Amino acid sequence: MGRRHLLYLHVPHSGRLHFADEVAALQHRNPKLHVAVTISKAEGTDWKGPRGRLTKDLLMQTVPNLVSRRIHLCGPPSMMDSTKAILTELGIPPDRVKTEAFGAPKPAPAAAGTTAKPTAPATGPLVTFSKNNKSSKIHEGQTVLELSEELGIGIDFSCRVGTCGLCKVKMTSGEVEMAVQDALDADDIANKIILACQAKPKGDIAVEA
Ligand code: FES
Repeated sequence: MGRRHLLYLHVPHSGRLHFADEVAALQHRNPKLHVAVTISKAEGTDWKGPRGRLTKDLLMQTVPNLVSRRIHLCGPPSMMDSTKAILTELGIPPDRVKTEAFGAPKPAPAAAGTTAKPTAPATGPLVTFSKNNKSSKIHEGQTVLELSEELGIGIDFSCRVGTCGLCKVKMTSGEVEMAVQDALDADDIANKIILACQAKPKGDIAVEA
């Protein structure tokens, strides 16, 4: 049997299957290319395939002889870290794993005895996280995601550059500006869904988080 080429896509939400046309063209050109897709946010869709992030079981089920493969991993830092941990657990030698990260890395945790909070008091608009019943003024230039981290709100994120869509939250009042909103479709925009990693409030806002 000839070599099988495997391409694994982990797509944050089924509304946008990134590079679907390009992948279909690659498959057309190379019959040995096997494509497996898992969607981490498939709620409200008719997606019948695997759901959730990459897991050890999913990798072992879909990639025969995984341990003997050469692996190329590409994605946002948090996805790369969790997948590398799985590969290590499976005994894949590190020299068989090539990586290519995209997106901004998660900020380094504060050193022991220090605080990650900015020192000057925030004077920007008030941000209310309604599910957590917390409100705080935001610092100039800070995003809603950064403020949520400061307050321990726990909004999901991955790329931090506006493309994966994991940080989507519903805004129930106010207005924000977003430098990048590639992960939002027309429905999201109509429903006041924002990307917390990009959102900078123009005035007081409230979000469901
Ligand atoms: S974390 Fe990926 S779009 Fe915000």
